[in-house]
Amino acid sequence: NRFEDWLRAAPKAELHLHLDGTLGAGRLLQLADKNNVPLPYNTLQELEAAYHFENLQSFLDLYYLGASVLREEEDFYALMMDYLLRCRKNNIVHTEIMIEPQTYLPNGIDFPVFMAGFQRAVMEARSRWGQSVQLILSFLRHLPESAALDVLDKAENYRDDFVAIGLASSEQGNPPQKFTELYRRARERGYRLTAHAGEEGPPAFIRSALEDLTVERIDHGVRCLEDDTLVEVLRERRIPLTVCPLSNVRLCVFPTMKQHNILQLLARGLVVTVNSDDPAYFGGYLNDNFIALHRALNLNRSQALQMLRNGFEASFLATAEKSERL
Ligand code: HPA
Ligand code: ZN
Repeated sequence: NRFEDWLRAAPKAELHLHLDGTLGAGRLLQLADKNNVPLPYNTLQELEAAYHFENLQSFLDLYYLGASVLREEEDFYALMMDYLLRCRKNNIVHTEIMIEPQTYLPNGIDFPVFMAGFQRAVMEARSRWGQSVQLILSFLRHLPESAALDVLDKAENYRDDFVAIGLASSEQGNPPQKFTELYRRARERGYRLTAHAGEEGPPAFIRSALEDLTVERIDHGVRCLEDDTLVEVLRERRIPLTVCPLSNVRLCVFPTMKQHNILQLLARGLVVTVNSDDPAYFGGYLNDNFIALHRALNLNRSQALQMLRNGFEASFLATAEKSERL
């Protein structure tokens, strides 16, 4: 297939990826066994049968349980290295990876343990094949803002490892404005800013992320189409949306891929990018997401090329580094 061959070979940027979402079922069970973490699933069949979600929360419950098997530096190294090798296979030349310390801290795993593993894998990929990698410090919005502020302080020892902060987890009931002080402090400390908004939450959450948190891009944002004035703001300000097609279908944001609104977002002149979110749970890495759009929506080369270019434009790379890639 000509489109698919062309797509696989094209250099890509990925901007919306949770590292814990790359933990495959096989490695998950292997680490649970090694680290003596009890799970309600004992076989690959049992575990994979649980990969059916009704909404974001039903996914998050399994996702946090899965990540609880990560305990030692070598586990974090292996997880990061597996994903970076996937980048090489998918021709993802630049990637921005969300790290969620609040998932590990309750298990007594602190920054020195997971950061050592992550740093070692990133340095190896940079030197072995020139992989471009940036990390995003992502906070869990179902927890209080005070907890996020403590984590932001802890991360000061690793300030150079993170380009930006992000906001993930349960959107319903946890509006962006809950984290106004977190974003104020992060901005003051020189972090770039992004947040999940408008995945399950209403357009008002996208507005709040822009106005209260002053984010530069929006993760997901697909519900913006319900508010024409908001679409105009996003278009005018060239605020990128990091859209995750397979994720949206698996979490029932859209009933099927044919009903996904990504081509409408693009036609409205928005800076749309394609991303995999949690590829081990949602049935595909970045190339699979593009191919699913091609099959369901007839995504053509010129549309795909626009979204590939948008990926570099929307990245947190410095302007000089961007122009080399574009
Ligand atoms: N939304 C919110 N939080 C998440 C997601 C998502 O799609 N994936 C992992 N954490
Ligand atoms: Zn996400």
